[in-house]
Amino acid sequence: MQSPQVSVILALLACTHAAVVEVGKQRIGRKTHERPYASTSSIQRQRHTKQFVYVYDMPRKFTTDVAELSPEWHSKQYDYDQVLHEHFQSSPARTEDPDQAQLFMIPVYLGRYYNWFWQQWSTTGSPWEIVKDCAPGHAPGSAECWWEKWMWAKGNTSELVREALQHVKAQHPHWAKHDGADHFMVFSYDHARCDLAKDLQLAEMGHMFSIQSYGDLTLTNVPEVPPIIQRWQENNYTWGQPRAWACFRPDADVLVPMYYDFDAEDITSPFAAKRPVSMLLRFEYKAGDGKNLVEHYGHRLRHELIELWRADPLPGSKQGLRSPEETDADMARALFCVCAPGATQDTTRFFRAILKGCIPVTFFRANDLPFARHLGVPYEDFVLNIQPDDYMQLNAKVQHILDSPKQLWHMQEALQAQQRHFVWSEGAEGGVLANIERELSIRAQSLTGVAQSVIT
Ligand SMILES: *[C@@H]1O[C@H](CO)[C@@H](O)[C@H](O)[C@H]1NC(C)=O
Ligand SMILES: *[C@@H]1O[C@H](CO)[C@@H](O)[C@H](O)[C@H]1NC(C)=O
Repeated sequence: MQSPQVSVILALLACTHAAVVEVGKQRIGRKTHERPYASTSSIQRQRHTKQFVYVYDMPRKFTTDVAELSPEWHSKQYDYDQVLHEHFQSSPARTEDPDQAQLFMIPVYLGRYYNWFWQQWSTTGSPWEIVKDCAPGHAPGSAECWWEKWMWAKGNTSELVREALQHVKAQHPHWAKHDGADHFMVFSYDHARCDLAKDLQLAEMGHMFSIQSYGDLTLTNVPEVPPIIQRWQENNYTWGQPRAWACFRPDADVLVPMYYDFDAEDITSPFAAKRPVSMLLRFEYKAGDGKNLVEHYGHRLRHELIELWRADPLPGSKQGLRSPEETDADMARALFCVCAPGATQDTTRFFRAILKGCIPVTFFRANDLPFARHLGVPYEDFVLNIQPDDYMQLNAKVQHILDSPKQLWHMQEALQAQQRHFVWSEGAEGGVLANIERELSIRAQSLTGVAQSVIT
């Protein structure tokens, strides 16, 4: 028998659950044939009635102080931890009552902290040249000295994560309820937790999930397919060998594009103007310098693709590195944009191509992408993916589509329909921020589901 209080709680839970389900059901992809964005007002209403994310007020050493650090080299793409903190502080999804919350955000500005940390030992004007306090035998400016500081940055960033978690666990009662399963942090660096929290034991992380851009299911720089099933050896996130599932948990983590400040007005429709460039390869390959551009940077594919282009360029194609501005302008004039892997399988180039109306050509293998699994973005309709081992077929595959105007048009149409989902700007209806909230509501829903089944 239920006491009156329990009935009220159950009724509340049921309401909450239903509201979340409603939001969660909205898919943005082809798979449901729904067009959720056709009716803005209903989406806005659903999002705005739901307050479910509590944002911890962390000591300033984790946020404000870090935001004031100014690394000489630091790409804004790593600052989405700050962008999301700011967003959730004023989002209608925020609740100021932790007892009403379904999810808890722990804001720590890890992206900035990490780059600042290793650059403390670099040369002014040349942040990649690490010259100070090199260990004996490691020459100033050498790859070895750079690597030392890079590892210090990893170690110290891990420490910052550890301190943040200790603070939350010691100062607030909420973590313990679900061993952190309803808590999240933003790990805004290339390999997410595997860069920023690599020293943490699994037990310290609990069941906390992550917002991150790293969706690689295999974790390897080696061109051959690694075994998916591996013996679990270490109770930590250290990577260096293929170690599936450690850096990205597809059932829990929320994938987002790295940050870029394109507005809705910066979107170029695939049909906006003539596209005289058949295929664009705006990247280069630096031979391994021992630093972050290690031997297999770009899984070595960049090197292979450039060699392939030199030997046999597709008519109308262009290759070579240009400034980001020139690259964006060229993407708006190209039909296909080759998005070779960088430090990870995808790069922001992939999302910039989408926004510039250029069909991305990718070389993904077992790589999850933002908003695909739960919101149903149908990447297969507007991305040409080629298995890395088949890269030699690049020209043939692109030519095949060029020879079929109907197929090309279908891909461009599908691309056009999805472009706005990749705009980060605040208030972009159906943009990245709205999609993150919808993904979070799905996480909240599954957690609420678990809690209810425990109660009954
Ligand atoms: C943190 O950085 C300091 C240098 O400031 C270094 O001595 C220490 O080893 C680093 N800690 C870790 C865990 O890497
Ligand atoms: C984590 O794993 C690495 C290598 O796989 C091991 O060397 C290291 O000692 C482990 N760290 C901890 C804290 O267990």
